[in-house]
Amino acid sequence: MLGPGDLWYKSAAIYAINVDTFRDADGDGVGDFSGLTSRVDYLHALGVTCVWLLPFYPSPNRDNRYDVADYYGVDPRLGTLGDFVDFLRVARERGIRVMIDLVVNHTSDQHPWFQAARADRASRYRDYYVWADEPPPNAREGMVFPGVEESTWSYDDVAGAWYFHRFYRFQPDLNLANPAVREEIRKIMGFWLELGVSGFRLDAAPFLIERKGVSAAVVEARRPHTFFRYMRSFLSWRRGDAALLAEANVLPDEVEDYVGSGDKLQLLFNFYANQHLFLSLATGRAAPLVEALGALPALPPSAQWANFLRNHDELDLGRLTDDDRGACYDAFAPDVDMRLYGRGVRRRLAPMLGNDRARLELAHSLMLALPGTPVLRYGDEIGMGDDLSLPEREGVRTPMQWTRGPNGGFSTAPPERLVRPMVTGEYGPDAVNVADQQRDPGSLLNWLQRALGVRHGCPEIGWGSGRAIAVDVPSVVAIRCDWRTRHAAVVPTPVGEIGAPDGPSAVITLHNLAPEPCTVCLAASDVGPGEVTELLTDRDYGRAPDLRGEVALGPYGYRWFRIATGDDRSTGPGR
Ligand code: GLC
Repeated sequence: MLGPGDLWYKSAAIYAINVDTFRDADGDGVGDFSGLTSRVDYLHALGVTCVWLLPFYPSPNRDNRYDVADYYGVDPRLGTLGDFVDFLRVARERGIRVMIDLVVNHTSDQHPWFQAARADRASRYRDYYVWADEPPPNAREGMVFPGVEESTWSYDDVAGAWYFHRFYRFQPDLNLANPAVREEIRKIMGFWLELGVSGFRLDAAPFLIERKGVSAAVVEARRPHTFFRYMRSFLSWRRGDAALLAEANVLPDEVEDYVGSGDKLQLLFNFYANQHLFLSLATGRAAPLVEALGALPALPPSAQWANFLRNHDELDLGRLTDDDRGACYDAFAPDVDMRLYGRGVRRRLAPMLGNDRARLELAHSLMLALPGTPVLRYGDEIGMGDDLSLPEREGVRTPMQWTRGPNGGFSTAPPERLVRPMVTGEYGPDAVNVADQQRDPGSLLNWLQRALGVRHGCPEIGWGSGRAIAVDVPSVVAIRCDWRTRHAAVVPTPVGEIGAPDGPSAVITLHNLAPEPCTVCLAASDVGPGEVTELLTDRDYGRAPDLRGEVALGPYGYRWFRIATGDDRSTGPGR
Protein backbone atom coordinates (compact mmCIF):
# COMPACT_ATOMS: atom_id res chain seq x y z
CA MET A 1 0.00 0.00 0.00
CA LEU A 2 1.24 3.52 -0.78
CA GLY A 3 1.97 5.84 2.13
CA PRO A 4 1.51 9.58 2.54
CA GLY A 5 4.84 10.60 1.00
CA ASP A 6 4.63 8.55 -2.16
CA LEU A 7 2.75 10.96 -4.37
CA TRP A 8 5.11 13.73 -3.31
CA TYR A 9 4.42 15.78 -6.43
CA LYS A 10 0.89 16.45 -5.16
CA SER A 11 2.35 18.43 -2.26
CA ALA A 12 5.15 20.05 -4.25
CA ALA A 13 6.06 23.59 -5.21
CA ILE A 14 8.25 23.35 -8.30
CA TYR A 15 10.76 26.07 -9.29
CA ALA A 16 12.32 26.24 -12.77
CA ILE A 17 15.99 27.18 -13.10
CA ASN A 18 18.43 27.83 -15.92
CA VAL A 19 21.76 27.00 -14.31
CA ASP A 20 23.63 29.41 -16.60
CA THR A 21 21.65 32.45 -15.47
CA PHE A 22 21.08 31.67 -11.80
CA ARG A 23 24.37 32.27 -10.02
CA ASP A 24 27.96 32.32 -11.25
CA ALA A 25 30.37 31.05 -8.56
CA ASP A 26 33.64 31.01 -10.52
CA GLY A 27 33.38 34.48 -12.01
CA ASP A 28 33.48 33.50 -15.69
CA GLY A 29 30.18 35.19 -16.46
CA VAL A 30 28.20 31.95 -16.76
CA GLY A 31 26.07 30.56 -13.94
CA ASP A 32 27.15 27.16 -12.66
CA PHE A 33 26.23 24.29 -10.37
CA SER A 34 28.44 25.60 -7.56
CA GLY A 35 26.57 28.88 -7.69
CA LEU A 36 23.23 27.11 -7.70
CA THR A 37 24.27 24.97 -4.74
CA SER A 38 25.09 28.11 -2.79
CA ARG A 39 21.48 29.26 -3.26
CA VAL A 40 19.72 26.11 -2.06
CA ASP A 41 18.97 27.78 1.28
CA TYR A 42 17.27 30.61 -0.57
CA LEU A 43 15.04 28.12 -2.40
CA HIS A 44 14.30 26.28 0.81
CA ALA A 45 13.30 29.49 2.58
CA LEU A 46 11.04 30.44 -0.31
CA GLY A 47 9.11 27.20 0.08
CA VAL A 48 10.38 25.39 -3.00
CA THR A 49 10.23 21.59 -2.66
CA CYS A 50 11.32 20.58 -6.14
CA VAL A 51 13.71 22.20 -8.60
CA TRP A 52 13.19 21.67 -12.32
CA LEU A 53 16.55 22.11 -14.05
CA LEU A 54 16.34 23.21 -17.65
CA PRO A 55 18.88 21.44 -19.90
CA PHE A 56 22.43 21.60 -18.61
CA TYR A 57 23.94 19.02 -20.97
CA PRO A 58 26.90 19.65 -23.30
CA SER A 59 25.40 21.55 -26.18
CA PRO A 60 26.26 24.04 -28.92
CA ASN A 61 23.71 26.11 -26.97
CA ARG A 62 21.80 27.47 -29.93
CA ASP A 63 18.45 26.85 -28.20
CA ASN A 64 19.00 27.31 -24.47
CA ARG A 65 20.66 23.84 -24.47
CA TYR A 66 17.55 22.16 -25.84
CA ASP A 67 19.98 21.12 -28.58
CA VAL A 68 21.71 18.31 -26.71
CA ALA A 69 25.08 17.00 -27.90
CA ASP A 70 25.65 14.51 -25.07
CA TYR A 71 22.93 13.11 -22.81
CA TYR A 72 25.36 11.84 -20.19
CA GLY A 73 27.23 14.95 -19.19
CA VAL A 74 27.21 18.47 -17.85
CA ASP A 75 28.14 21.41 -20.07
CA PRO A 76 31.69 22.27 -18.88
CA ARG A 77 30.67 25.94 -18.71
CA LEU A 78 28.24 24.96 -15.91
CA GLY A 79 30.55 22.65 -13.98
CA THR A 80 31.17 18.93 -13.80
CA LEU A 81 29.09 15.87 -13.11
CA GLY A 82 30.61 16.00 -9.63
CA ASP A 83 29.22 19.51 -9.14
CA PHE A 84 25.83 18.26 -10.27
CA VAL A 85 25.88 15.45 -7.71
CA ASP A 86 27.00 17.88 -4.99
CA PHE A 87 24.00 20.02 -5.83
CA LEU A 88 21.66 17.02 -5.70
CA ARG A 89 22.97 16.10 -2.30
CA VAL A 90 22.70 19.58 -0.79
CA ALA A 91 19.20 19.94 -2.23
CA ARG A 92 18.18 16.63 -0.74
CA GLU A 93 19.52 17.73 2.64
CA ARG A 94 17.05 20.62 2.51
CA GLY A 95 14.21 18.35 1.41
CA ILE A 96 14.31 19.61 -2.18
CA ARG A 97 13.86 17.14 -5.01
CA VAL A 98 15.34 17.67 -8.46
CA MET A 99 13.68 17.03 -11.80
CA ILE A 100 15.63 17.48 -15.01
CA ASP A 101 14.66 18.22 -18.58
CA LEU A 102 14.61 15.16 -20.82
CA VAL A 103 14.94 16.34 -24.41
CA VAL A 104 14.51 13.28 -26.59
CA ASN A 105 12.31 14.50 -29.42
CA HIS A 106 15.50 15.65 -31.12
CA THR A 107 19.23 15.98 -30.65
CA SER A 108 21.62 18.72 -31.68
CA ASP A 109 22.92 18.27 -35.21
CA GLN A 110 26.32 18.13 -33.48
CA HIS A 111 25.38 14.98 -31.56
CA PRO A 112 27.65 12.06 -32.54
CA TRP A 113 24.56 10.06 -33.56
CA PHE A 114 23.60 12.64 -36.16
CA GLN A 115 27.17 13.08 -37.30
CA ALA A 116 27.45 9.33 -37.88
CA ALA A 117 23.99 9.13 -39.46
CA ARG A 118 24.65 11.83 -42.02
CA ALA A 119 28.11 10.55 -42.90
CA ASP A 120 27.06 7.03 -43.85
CA ARG A 121 23.78 5.63 -45.12
CA ALA A 122 24.79 2.22 -43.76
CA SER A 123 25.51 3.55 -40.26
CA ARG A 124 23.44 2.00 -37.50
CA TYR A 125 22.62 5.56 -36.48
CA ARG A 126 21.04 6.42 -39.84
CA ASP A 127 17.65 5.12 -38.72
CA TYR A 128 17.91 7.11 -35.46
CA TYR A 129 16.59 10.07 -37.48
CA VAL A 130 13.83 10.62 -40.01
CA TRP A 131 15.03 10.92 -43.64
CA ALA A 132 13.46 11.38 -47.05
CA ASP A 133 14.78 11.69 -50.59
CA GLU A 134 12.29 14.44 -51.31
CA PRO A 135 10.55 16.70 -48.78
CA PRO A 136 6.88 15.75 -48.48
CA PRO A 137 4.31 18.20 -49.88
CA ASN A 138 3.29 19.37 -46.40
CA ALA A 139 6.87 20.26 -45.39
CA ARG A 140 5.95 23.91 -44.97
CA GLU A 141 3.34 23.13 -42.30
CA GLY A 142 3.64 22.38 -38.62
CA MET A 143 6.78 24.35 -37.76
CA VAL A 144 6.96 25.13 -34.06
CA PHE A 145 8.86 28.35 -34.75
CA PRO A 146 7.10 29.90 -37.76
CA GLY A 147 8.80 33.03 -38.98
CA VAL A 148 12.18 31.64 -37.92
CA GLU A 149 11.98 28.29 -39.70
CA GLU A 150 10.23 27.89 -43.03
CA SER A 151 9.98 24.13 -43.25
CA THR A 152 10.03 21.02 -41.09
CA TRP A 153 12.40 19.37 -43.57
CA SER A 154 15.94 20.48 -44.42
CA TYR A 155 18.44 19.10 -46.88
CA ASP A 156 21.71 17.83 -45.50
CA ASP A 157 24.55 17.94 -48.03
CA VAL A 158 26.65 15.34 -46.29
CA ALA A 159 23.75 12.90 -45.95
CA GLY A 160 22.48 13.63 -49.44
CA ALA A 161 18.96 13.49 -48.04
CA TRP A 162 16.28 15.55 -46.31
CA TYR A 163 15.75 15.21 -42.56
CA PHE A 164 12.77 16.06 -40.41
CA HIS A 165 12.89 18.67 -37.63
CA ARG A 166 9.86 19.94 -35.73
CA PHE A 167 11.91 22.71 -34.14
CA TYR A 168 15.00 24.47 -35.45
CA ARG A 169 16.92 23.00 -38.39
CA PHE A 170 19.86 22.28 -36.06
CA GLN A 171 17.58 19.96 -34.03
CA PRO A 172 16.99 16.85 -36.15
CA ASP A 173 14.09 14.75 -34.81
CA LEU A 174 14.86 11.34 -33.43
CA ASN A 175 12.95 8.42 -34.93
CA LEU A 176 11.15 7.10 -31.88
CA ALA A 177 9.62 4.30 -33.88
CA ASN A 178 13.10 2.76 -33.94
CA PRO A 179 13.45 0.37 -30.98
CA ALA A 180 17.17 1.22 -30.74
CA VAL A 181 16.25 4.87 -30.06
CA ARG A 182 13.82 3.84 -27.33
CA GLU A 183 16.59 1.76 -25.84
CA GLU A 184 18.86 4.84 -25.81
CA ILE A 185 16.15 6.83 -24.02
CA ARG A 186 15.73 4.09 -21.46
CA LYS A 187 19.47 4.20 -20.77
CA ILE A 188 19.52 7.99 -20.46
CA MET A 189 16.67 7.94 -17.96
CA GLY A 190 18.31 5.11 -16.06
CA PHE A 191 21.58 7.03 -15.82
CA TRP A 192 20.11 10.15 -14.22
CA LEU A 193 17.74 8.19 -11.98
CA GLU A 194 20.74 6.31 -10.67
CA LEU A 195 22.34 9.63 -9.75
CA GLY A 196 19.26 10.53 -7.75
CA VAL A 197 16.91 12.73 -9.75
CA SER A 198 13.22 12.54 -8.87
CA GLY A 199 11.98 12.60 -12.42
CA PHE A 200 11.94 14.36 -15.73
CA ARG A 201 10.23 17.20 -17.47
CA LEU A 202 9.45 15.62 -20.78
CA ASP A 203 10.24 18.15 -23.48
CA ALA A 204 7.95 18.39 -26.51
CA ALA A 205 5.83 15.44 -25.35
CA PRO A 206 3.18 15.57 -28.14
CA PHE A 207 5.84 15.08 -30.78
CA LEU A 208 7.09 11.93 -29.10
CA ILE A 209 3.90 10.13 -30.06
CA GLU A 210 3.38 11.48 -33.57
CA ARG A 211 4.28 9.69 -36.75
CA LYS A 212 7.07 11.77 -38.30
CA GLY A 213 6.87 10.66 -41.87
CA VAL A 214 7.07 6.96 -41.07
CA SER A 215 4.42 4.98 -42.92
CA ALA A 216 1.21 4.40 -41.00
CA ALA A 217 1.58 0.62 -41.11
CA VAL A 218 5.08 0.74 -39.63
CA VAL A 219 3.98 3.15 -36.96
CA GLU A 220 1.00 1.03 -36.01
CA ALA A 221 3.20 -2.03 -35.67
CA ARG A 222 5.50 -0.10 -33.31
CA ARG A 223 2.59 1.21 -31.22
CA PRO A 224 3.57 4.86 -30.52
CA HIS A 225 0.62 5.26 -28.14
CA THR A 226 2.27 2.81 -25.77
CA PHE A 227 5.42 4.91 -25.48
CA PHE A 228 4.43 6.87 -22.38
CA ARG A 229 3.30 3.68 -20.68
CA TYR A 230 6.68 2.17 -21.51
CA MET A 231 8.54 5.16 -20.04
CA ARG A 232 6.39 5.16 -16.92
CA SER A 233 6.78 1.49 -16.28
CA PHE A 234 10.55 1.70 -16.74
CA LEU A 235 10.69 4.67 -14.39
CA SER A 236 8.69 2.85 -11.73
CA TRP A 237 10.97 -0.17 -11.83
CA ARG A 238 14.08 1.95 -11.46
CA ARG A 239 12.80 4.42 -8.92
CA GLY A 240 9.30 3.96 -7.59
CA ASP A 241 8.62 7.56 -6.63
CA ALA A 242 10.02 9.27 -9.72
CA ALA A 243 7.64 11.31 -11.84
CA LEU A 244 7.30 12.47 -15.44
CA LEU A 245 6.06 15.99 -16.13
CA ALA A 246 4.86 16.47 -19.70
CA GLU A 247 5.28 19.64 -21.70
CA ALA A 248 2.15 19.26 -23.80
CA ASN A 249 -0.08 22.11 -24.88
CA VAL A 250 -3.07 19.92 -25.60
CA LEU A 251 -6.84 20.16 -25.76
CA PRO A 252 -9.01 18.65 -23.02
CA ASP A 253 -9.97 15.63 -25.13
CA GLU A 254 -6.29 14.75 -25.70
CA VAL A 255 -5.38 14.63 -22.00
CA GLU A 256 -6.02 10.92 -21.72
CA ASP A 257 -3.25 10.19 -24.26
CA TYR A 258 -0.82 11.56 -21.67
CA VAL A 259 -2.13 10.33 -18.33
CA GLY A 260 -3.88 7.14 -19.45
CA SER A 261 -5.67 5.48 -16.58
CA GLY A 262 -2.91 6.58 -14.22
CA ASP A 263 -0.37 4.35 -15.99
CA LYS A 264 1.33 6.98 -18.17
CA LEU A 265 2.72 10.41 -17.19
CA GLN A 266 1.97 11.71 -13.70
CA LEU A 267 2.13 15.45 -14.32
CA LEU A 268 0.88 17.54 -17.20
CA PHE A 269 1.51 21.26 -17.57
CA ASN A 270 -1.86 22.98 -17.59
CA PHE A 271 -1.36 25.04 -20.76
CA TYR A 272 -5.10 25.08 -21.34
CA ALA A 273 -5.90 26.73 -18.00
CA ASN A 274 -2.82 28.96 -18.38
CA GLN A 275 -3.94 30.67 -21.57
CA HIS A 276 -7.50 31.07 -20.33
CA LEU A 277 -6.18 32.48 -17.06
CA PHE A 278 -4.35 35.17 -19.03
CA LEU A 279 -7.47 35.84 -21.09
CA SER A 280 -9.37 36.29 -17.83
CA LEU A 281 -6.69 38.64 -16.49
CA ALA A 282 -6.76 40.59 -19.78
CA THR A 283 -10.51 41.03 -19.88
CA GLY A 284 -11.35 41.16 -16.17
CA ARG A 285 -13.88 38.38 -16.80
CA ALA A 286 -13.85 35.15 -14.84
CA ALA A 287 -15.70 33.20 -17.52
CA PRO A 288 -12.76 32.12 -19.74
CA LEU A 289 -10.88 30.53 -16.84
CA VAL A 290 -14.01 29.10 -15.24
CA GLU A 291 -15.11 27.52 -18.51
CA ALA A 292 -11.62 26.15 -19.17
CA LEU A 293 -11.50 24.52 -15.74
CA GLY A 294 -14.92 23.02 -16.43
CA ALA A 295 -13.79 21.65 -19.80
CA LEU A 296 -10.77 19.79 -18.40
CA PRO A 297 -11.33 16.11 -17.64
CA ALA A 298 -10.92 14.72 -14.13
CA LEU A 299 -7.49 13.12 -13.85
CA PRO A 300 -6.81 9.65 -12.48
CA PRO A 301 -5.99 9.83 -8.72
CA SER A 302 -2.24 9.53 -9.18
CA ALA A 303 -2.06 12.17 -11.95
CA GLN A 304 -1.77 15.91 -11.43
CA TRP A 305 -1.96 19.25 -13.24
CA ALA A 306 1.13 21.46 -13.10
CA ASN A 307 -0.05 25.08 -13.04
CA PHE A 308 2.12 28.03 -13.97
CA LEU A 309 2.02 31.66 -15.03
CA ARG A 310 5.08 32.21 -17.20
CA ASN A 311 7.84 29.89 -18.31
CA HIS A 312 11.10 30.18 -20.25
CA ASP A 313 9.29 30.29 -23.61
CA GLU A 314 6.74 32.69 -25.04
CA LEU A 315 3.34 32.82 -23.35
CA ASP A 316 1.66 30.49 -25.82
CA LEU A 317 -1.87 31.66 -26.64
CA GLY A 318 -2.29 29.28 -29.56
CA ARG A 319 -5.38 27.63 -28.10
CA LEU A 320 -7.38 30.87 -27.99
CA THR A 321 -9.51 32.23 -30.82
CA ASP A 322 -8.00 35.06 -32.87
CA ASP A 323 -10.24 37.56 -31.08
CA ASP A 324 -9.33 36.31 -27.63
CA ARG A 325 -5.64 36.26 -28.48
CA GLY A 326 -6.09 39.80 -29.75
CA ALA A 327 -7.56 40.81 -26.38
CA CYS A 328 -4.48 39.36 -24.65
CA TYR A 329 -2.17 41.16 -27.07
CA ASP A 330 -3.97 44.46 -26.45
CA ALA A 331 -3.59 44.02 -22.70
CA PHE A 332 -0.15 42.48 -22.44
CA ALA A 333 1.74 42.97 -25.69
CA PRO A 334 0.63 46.20 -27.35
CA ASP A 335 3.83 46.44 -29.44
CA VAL A 336 4.22 43.93 -32.23
CA ASP A 337 7.79 43.31 -31.04
CA MET A 338 6.41 41.89 -27.79
CA ARG A 339 4.72 39.07 -29.73
CA LEU A 340 6.27 35.93 -31.12
CA TYR A 341 5.57 33.09 -33.58
CA GLY A 342 2.12 34.45 -34.36
CA ARG A 343 0.75 32.96 -31.17
CA GLY A 344 2.42 34.32 -28.06
CA VAL A 345 3.92 36.99 -25.86
CA ARG A 346 7.66 37.08 -25.17
CA ARG A 347 7.58 39.10 -21.94
CA ARG A 348 8.01 38.31 -18.28
CA LEU A 349 5.04 38.45 -15.93
CA ALA A 350 5.84 41.70 -14.10
CA PRO A 351 6.09 43.89 -17.24
CA MET A 352 2.98 42.24 -18.67
CA LEU A 353 1.07 43.30 -15.58
CA GLY A 354 2.52 46.81 -15.61
CA ASN A 355 4.59 46.09 -12.50
CA ASP A 356 1.35 46.51 -10.57
CA ARG A 357 1.80 44.85 -7.21
CA ALA A 358 -1.92 44.19 -6.71
CA ARG A 359 -2.19 42.39 -10.04
CA LEU A 360 1.04 40.45 -9.48
CA GLU A 361 -0.32 39.16 -6.18
CA LEU A 362 -3.67 38.41 -7.76
CA ALA A 363 -2.10 36.43 -10.61
CA HIS A 364 0.12 34.40 -8.28
CA SER A 365 -2.64 33.80 -5.78
CA LEU A 366 -4.97 32.61 -8.53
CA MET A 367 -2.34 30.26 -9.94
CA LEU A 368 -1.68 28.84 -6.46
CA ALA A 369 -5.43 28.30 -6.03
CA LEU A 370 -5.82 26.15 -9.16
CA PRO A 371 -6.24 22.43 -8.50
CA GLY A 372 -2.81 20.90 -9.04
CA THR A 373 0.84 21.65 -8.28
CA PRO A 374 2.31 25.16 -8.74
CA VAL A 375 5.38 25.75 -10.91
CA LEU A 376 7.30 29.01 -10.50
CA ARG A 377 9.95 30.46 -12.76
CA TYR A 378 13.14 31.86 -11.27
CA GLY A 379 12.97 35.62 -10.88
CA ASP A 380 9.19 35.92 -10.94
CA GLU A 381 9.18 35.82 -7.14
CA ILE A 382 10.90 39.22 -7.12
CA GLY A 383 9.08 40.58 -10.17
CA MET A 384 11.99 40.50 -12.62
CA GLY A 385 11.59 42.15 -16.02
CA ASP A 386 12.77 41.21 -19.49
CA ASP A 387 15.08 42.47 -22.23
CA LEU A 388 13.21 42.67 -25.52
CA SER A 389 16.36 43.69 -27.37
CA LEU A 390 17.41 40.03 -27.18
CA PRO A 391 16.09 37.73 -29.92
CA GLU A 392 13.01 35.48 -29.70
CA ARG A 393 12.65 34.05 -26.15
CA GLU A 394 16.06 35.10 -24.87
CA GLY A 395 14.61 38.24 -23.29
CA VAL A 396 12.99 36.23 -20.46
CA ARG A 397 16.22 34.38 -19.70
CA THR A 398 18.36 37.13 -18.22
CA PRO A 399 20.52 36.61 -15.10
CA MET A 400 18.91 36.37 -11.66
CA GLN A 401 19.13 39.61 -9.68
CA TRP A 402 20.48 38.88 -6.20
CA THR A 403 21.67 42.30 -5.05
CA ARG A 404 21.87 45.89 -6.20
CA GLY A 405 25.64 45.45 -6.65
CA PRO A 406 27.59 44.97 -9.91
CA ASN A 407 25.85 42.51 -12.27
CA GLY A 408 23.05 42.25 -9.74
CA GLY A 409 25.23 39.96 -7.62
CA PHE A 410 24.92 37.29 -10.32
CA SER A 411 28.59 37.27 -11.30
CA THR A 412 31.87 39.08 -10.65
CA ALA A 413 32.85 38.91 -14.34
CA PRO A 414 33.13 42.09 -16.42
CA PRO A 415 29.62 42.87 -17.75
CA GLU A 416 30.62 42.14 -21.35
CA ARG A 417 31.44 38.55 -20.40
CA LEU A 418 28.03 37.74 -18.92
CA VAL A 419 26.09 34.92 -20.50
CA ARG A 420 23.34 37.47 -21.15
CA PRO A 421 23.24 41.14 -20.21
CA MET A 422 21.56 42.18 -16.98
CA VAL A 423 18.18 43.85 -17.34
CA THR A 424 18.49 47.62 -16.93
CA GLY A 425 16.10 50.44 -16.01
CA GLU A 426 12.81 50.03 -14.15
CA TYR A 427 13.39 46.29 -13.66
CA GLY A 428 17.17 46.39 -13.23
CA PRO A 429 18.94 45.16 -10.08
CA ASP A 430 18.84 48.58 -8.42
CA ALA A 431 15.06 48.34 -8.29
CA VAL A 432 14.46 44.59 -8.27
CA ASN A 433 16.71 42.26 -6.30
CA VAL A 434 16.55 39.50 -3.71
CA ALA A 435 18.59 41.15 -0.94
CA ASP A 436 16.45 44.28 -0.75
CA GLN A 437 13.25 42.27 -0.87
CA GLN A 438 14.43 39.92 1.86
CA ARG A 439 14.84 42.92 4.16
CA ASP A 440 11.48 44.45 3.28
CA PRO A 441 8.61 42.69 5.07
CA GLY A 442 6.16 44.08 2.52
CA SER A 443 8.09 42.89 -0.57
CA LEU A 444 6.70 40.65 -3.30
CA LEU A 445 9.28 38.04 -2.31
CA ASN A 446 8.12 37.95 1.29
CA TRP A 447 4.50 37.96 0.20
CA LEU A 448 5.07 34.98 -2.10
CA GLN A 449 6.96 33.11 0.59
CA ARG A 450 3.99 33.60 2.91
CA ALA A 451 1.49 32.63 0.21
CA LEU A 452 3.46 29.47 -0.57
CA GLY A 453 3.45 28.65 3.14
CA VAL A 454 -0.33 28.94 3.19
CA ARG A 455 -0.57 26.87 0.03
CA HIS A 456 1.60 24.13 1.54
CA GLY A 457 -0.95 23.94 4.34
CA CYS A 458 -3.81 23.33 1.92
CA PRO A 459 -3.83 19.68 0.85
CA GLU A 460 -7.36 20.35 -0.38
CA ILE A 461 -5.89 22.15 -3.43
CA GLY A 462 -3.04 19.78 -4.22
CA TRP A 463 -4.82 16.54 -3.44
CA GLY A 464 -8.52 17.19 -3.60
CA SER A 465 -11.06 17.62 -6.33
CA GLY A 466 -11.53 21.20 -7.42
CA ARG A 467 -14.30 22.96 -9.29
CA ALA A 468 -15.30 26.50 -10.07
CA ILE A 469 -18.44 27.62 -8.26
CA ALA A 470 -20.94 30.13 -9.57
CA VAL A 471 -20.98 33.64 -8.13
CA ASP A 472 -23.05 36.66 -9.06
CA VAL A 473 -20.14 38.96 -10.03
CA PRO A 474 -18.65 38.38 -13.52
CA SER A 475 -15.16 39.47 -12.49
CA VAL A 476 -14.84 36.94 -9.66
CA VAL A 477 -13.28 33.49 -9.97
CA ALA A 478 -14.51 31.24 -7.16
CA ILE A 479 -12.98 27.79 -6.76
CA ARG A 480 -13.80 25.12 -4.23
CA CYS A 481 -11.42 22.21 -3.54
CA ASP A 482 -12.46 19.29 -1.35
CA TRP A 483 -10.28 16.74 0.36
CA ARG A 484 -10.57 14.33 3.22
CA THR A 485 -8.53 16.31 5.69
CA ARG A 486 -7.05 19.70 6.33
CA HIS A 487 -3.73 18.35 7.61
CA ALA A 488 -1.01 18.48 4.99
CA ALA A 489 1.45 16.54 7.10
CA VAL A 490 -0.74 13.46 7.30
CA VAL A 491 -2.23 13.48 3.85
CA PRO A 492 -3.63 10.07 3.03
CA THR A 493 -3.22 8.88 -0.53
CA PRO A 494 -6.22 8.37 -2.72
CA VAL A 495 -5.09 4.80 -3.20
CA GLY A 496 -4.45 3.50 0.29
CA GLU A 497 -6.99 3.89 3.05
CA ILE A 498 -5.19 5.65 5.86
CA GLY A 499 -7.67 7.12 8.31
CA ALA A 500 -7.70 10.92 8.34
CA PRO A 501 -7.40 12.57 11.75
CA ASP A 502 -10.34 14.85 11.15
CA GLY A 503 -13.36 15.21 8.92
CA PRO A 504 -13.50 16.39 5.31
CA SER A 505 -12.24 19.84 4.58
CA ALA A 506 -12.66 22.35 1.75
CA VAL A 507 -10.87 25.48 0.63
CA ILE A 508 -12.83 28.17 -1.19
CA THR A 509 -10.82 30.87 -2.95
CA LEU A 510 -12.21 34.11 -4.39
CA HIS A 511 -10.30 36.30 -6.85
CA ASN A 512 -11.58 39.60 -8.15
CA LEU A 513 -10.07 40.30 -11.59
CA ALA A 514 -11.47 43.81 -11.79
CA PRO A 515 -9.97 47.12 -10.59
CA GLU A 516 -13.22 47.93 -8.75
CA PRO A 517 -14.20 46.50 -5.37
CA CYS A 518 -17.22 44.21 -5.26
CA THR A 519 -19.40 42.08 -3.02
CA VAL A 520 -20.18 38.47 -3.92
CA CYS A 521 -22.83 36.06 -2.66
CA LEU A 522 -22.07 32.35 -2.65
CA ALA A 523 -24.86 29.79 -2.82
CA ALA A 524 -25.39 28.17 0.58
CA SER A 525 -25.20 24.76 -1.11
CA ASP A 526 -21.70 25.59 -2.42
CA VAL A 527 -20.49 26.50 1.04
CA GLY A 528 -22.19 23.76 3.07
CA PRO A 529 -21.82 23.29 6.81
CA GLY A 530 -18.57 23.75 8.71
CA GLU A 531 -16.41 26.23 10.51
CA VAL A 532 -14.98 29.03 8.32
CA THR A 533 -11.38 30.23 8.76
CA GLU A 534 -9.71 32.86 6.61
CA LEU A 535 -6.30 31.74 5.31
CA LEU A 536 -4.96 34.41 2.93
CA THR A 537 -6.15 37.86 1.87
CA ASP A 538 -4.83 40.81 -0.07
CA ARG A 539 -5.80 43.29 2.67
CA ASP A 540 -7.39 43.46 6.09
CA TYR A 541 -11.08 42.77 5.58
CA GLY A 542 -11.87 42.60 9.31
CA ARG A 543 -13.47 39.54 10.84
CA ALA A 544 -13.85 36.43 8.62
CA PRO A 545 -17.33 36.46 7.07
CA ASP A 546 -19.76 33.62 7.40
CA LEU A 547 -19.44 32.96 3.62
CA ARG A 548 -23.13 32.11 3.47
CA GLY A 549 -23.88 35.83 3.20
CA GLU A 550 -22.07 38.63 1.40
CA VAL A 551 -18.30 38.63 0.97
CA ALA A 552 -16.41 41.82 0.14
CA LEU A 553 -13.44 41.88 -2.25
CA GLY A 554 -11.17 44.86 -2.91
CA PRO A 555 -9.87 45.95 -6.32
CA TYR A 556 -7.91 42.92 -7.62
CA GLY A 557 -8.67 41.44 -4.19
CA TYR A 558 -8.42 37.80 -3.21
CA ARG A 559 -9.51 35.79 -0.17
CA TRP A 560 -8.90 32.16 0.73
CA PHE A 561 -11.16 30.36 3.23
CA ARG A 562 -11.21 26.91 4.77
CA ILE A 563 -14.47 25.20 5.66
CA ALA A 564 -13.71 22.35 7.99
CA THR A 565 -16.12 19.83 9.37
CA GLY A 566 -15.50 16.94 11.73
CA ASP A 567 -13.78 16.62 15.03
CA ASP A 568 -10.26 17.93 14.99
CA ARG A 569 -9.58 16.88 18.57
CA SER A 570 -9.17 13.23 17.63
CA THR A 571 -5.61 12.12 17.15
CA GLY A 572 -3.55 10.21 14.68
CA PRO A 573 -4.27 8.17 11.63
CA GLY A 574 -5.96 4.80 11.77
CA ARG A 575 -8.79 5.53 14.18
C1 GLC B 1 10.40 23.02 -25.75
C2 GLC B 1 11.14 24.01 -24.90
C3 GLC B 1 11.67 25.10 -25.79
C4 GLC B 1 12.57 24.51 -26.84
C5 GLC B 1 11.85 23.41 -27.59
C6 GLC B 1 12.78 22.63 -28.47
O1 GLC B 1 9.26 23.57 -26.33
O2 GLC B 1 10.31 24.49 -23.89
O3 GLC B 1 12.36 26.05 -25.03
O4 GLC B 1 12.98 25.50 -27.74
O5 GLC B 1 11.25 22.49 -26.72
O6 GLC B 1 13.52 21.74 -27.70
